[in-house]
Amino acid sequence: MLHHFVQILDFSKEELLRMMELTALLKRADKDGACPKLLSGASLGMIFEEPSTRTRVSFEVAMTKLGGHALYLRPGEIHLGARESIADTARVVSRMVDAIEARTLKHQTVLDLAKYATVPVLNGLTDFNHPTQVVCDVFTMTEHAPKGKKLEDFNLAFVGDATNVCISLMFICARLGISFTQAAPAKYQISEAHRAMVRDACAESGAKISFTEDPAAAVAEADFIYTDLWWWVGQESEIPERSAAFMPKFQVNGALMAKAPATARFMHCLPASRGVEATDEVMDGTQSIILDQSENRLHTEKALLVWFVYPRLKRPSE
Ligand code: CP
Repeated sequence: MLHHFVQILDFSKEELLRMMELTALLKRADKDGACPKLLSGASLGMIFEEPSTRTRVSFEVAMTKLGGHALYLRPGEIHLGARESIADTARVVSRMVDAIEARTLKHQTVLDLAKYATVPVLNGLTDFNHPTQVVCDVFTMTEHAPKGKKLEDFNLAFVGDATNVCISLMFICARLGISFTQAAPAKYQISEAHRAMVRDACAESGAKISFTEDPAAAVAEADFIYTDLWWWVGQESEIPERSAAFMPKFQVNGALMAKAPATARFMHCLPASRGVEATDEVMDGTQSIILDQSENRLHTEKALLVWFVYPRLKRPSE
């Protein structure tokens, strides 16, 4: 089993499906008030170079529910990258905790943490990808599967920018055999270099990955319609250009949803700029599953923590 959770393509279809089965088991146990204390006495160091609501709360609460403990570590409060190298931080923190979750500005920082840490490192979002989010997303899709459809028959339309979430969705769809279409202006579609990364996975799984500048065509047969922010922290100077490129054609609103099957579900990883990439009527409408998605971050983090940390824990009988 791979030691770290850095990106989706590091894992096989079978492993990803088993992570989702574990998520389902732990969600059911939690709903019954019987979350097993599988990580009793364990600690998670959570490094956040950027703010977070869902990732922070879900990892911290997941550790508590599993009988463990989480520490919130912010730059300025620890020495990471300023007065101490990433390598030394990884080596030292590894001596005191059982796993590290890291949200970093640059993907290379998570790779460096994983290189030097001696405990599992879980990627909590970088400028490249967001693997914990998309395991949660596909798990949520299975809970809202269209009648009679199995996972390999799902059709996901992502309408919006090639964000870290969008790229990770392409990765997990390619691995699992789910059809994925990104609708965006050509300039904001996933790069050729990143598309090339999924060619082998698609050949193996049969996933169809496509790109279009026509959002109506993308959603016409979609089971799930997903969007994300059109700009992120650090892209403020690009807002006028991005806004002009995406608005109004790529906004997920009632008119676009009306072009999709009536059974299609709306998804957003959040946070959202309401009224920008999606309207309130869609975000809060009957087809929206955004709150299930958010809640499932908790159940997914529990599964990922158990997957990576539980096998490493020393138990009294051993
Ligand atoms: N979706 C997500 O990762 O949300 P946060 O930025 O609040 O963690």
